Amino acid sequence: MFQTDLLKDKTIFVTGGGTGLGKSMAQRFLELGAKVIIASRKMEILERTAAELMKATGGEVLPLALDVRDYGAVNGALEAAVAHFGSVDILLNNAAGNFVSPTEALSHKAFDVIVDIVLRGSYNTTLAFGKHWIAKKQAARVLNIVTTYATTGSGYVVPSAIAKSGVQTLTKSLAVEWAKYGITMNAIAPGPFPTEGAWARLLPPGLEQQFVERIPLKRVGEHIELANLAAYLVSDQSHYINGEVITIDGGEWLKGAGEFNFLDVLTPQEWGEMERQVRKANKQ
Ligand code: HXC
Ligand code: NAP
Repeated sequence: MFQTDLLKDKTIFVTGGGTGLGKSMAQRFLELGAKVIIASRKMEILERTAAELMKATGGEVLPLALDVRDYGAVNGALEAAVAHFGSVDILLNNAAGNFVSPTEALSHKAFDVIVDIVLRGSYNTTLAFGKHWIAKKQAARVLNIVTTYATTGSGYVVPSAIAKSGVQTLTKSLAVEWAKYGITMNAIAPGPFPTEGAWARLLPPGLEQQFVERIPLKRVGEHIELANLAAYLVSDQSHYINGEVITIDGGEWLKGAGEFNFLDVLTPQEWGEMERQVRKANKQ
């Protein structure tokens, strides 16, 4: 769907790029000509992923150990990336932590760990990269991965919900404030996309089918669908899109929100009866 040189000459820093959706997006960027840094805590996984992606695409991947909660370490990783590739043009804030739990069962440390990875991690990278780009007078782009419940809120993932909604607000705020420096910013809000990281922590055993039933398209997302959207949103082709949150969820959250959407349980006979009842009421 894209020209193969769409991201030629772009260097993209992907947090959490060793696994799951970060890995899939990194692979798509490489196929489209980008150079990629993947950064997270577990170096062994990053090295394995880097080797796999380089073999699959022929592109160049730099793995860097990084805990995004540590601002000093973020600056160190940025320096290492610039020393290796000459510059970094795009930041993808994808790293996250999450698990389902009744909120009252959480320790304060459990709350902290999620908010720190998701919100502090995202503003740490955004601030460090932003200061660097502004000092260098370099135009740049940021893409943040949030969730649909960043807008709606959700029980049982409350630390994640409040942190993702903070990242969403960061996106909208800095898209405006930093446009004058040529730094633009958007977010993607995915619905369910199977990954080992999310499924192991979020899907109670036996409830998988209920997850799919809630989605109007009756299927979960495919990684390539998200990766193509991300490729477009980091490319120069989408430059005039700034401060947006693009949902990619097969219509899932709207299905829950629309007052009468539950009526898809009615049979044709019940619809016939309903019509007769309404027409009768119209005549009275
Ligand atoms: C309650 C829990 C818990 C759980 C950990 N804790 N797991 N509390 N229920 N399931 C508590 C611990 O007891 C501890 O508190 C505190 O959290 C910190 O735990 P650690 O294990 O020390 O933290 P750490 O090793 O840093 O691991 C971080 C993590 C882990 C977030 C807990 O899950 C992780 O590394 N996740 C990274 C990947 C990930 O989560 N991917 C999913 C993203 S999916 P105490 O007080 O006991 O010391 C996503 C969106 C999905 O975000 C949307 C789907 C539609
Ligand atoms: P994942 O594979 O578990 O990815 C999370 C990544 O974050 C891991 O690679 C992890 O690597 C990294 N990470 C965690 N803590 C970190 C830290 N402190 N510093 C640096 N990196 C850290 O899960 P995923 O499903 O692909 O999630 C990717 C993104 O999509 C997340 O933002 C998630 O919220 C979002 N999302 C996913 C879904 C879905 O259905 N899968 C839906 C909506 C939104 P290390 O362990 O090596 O640090």
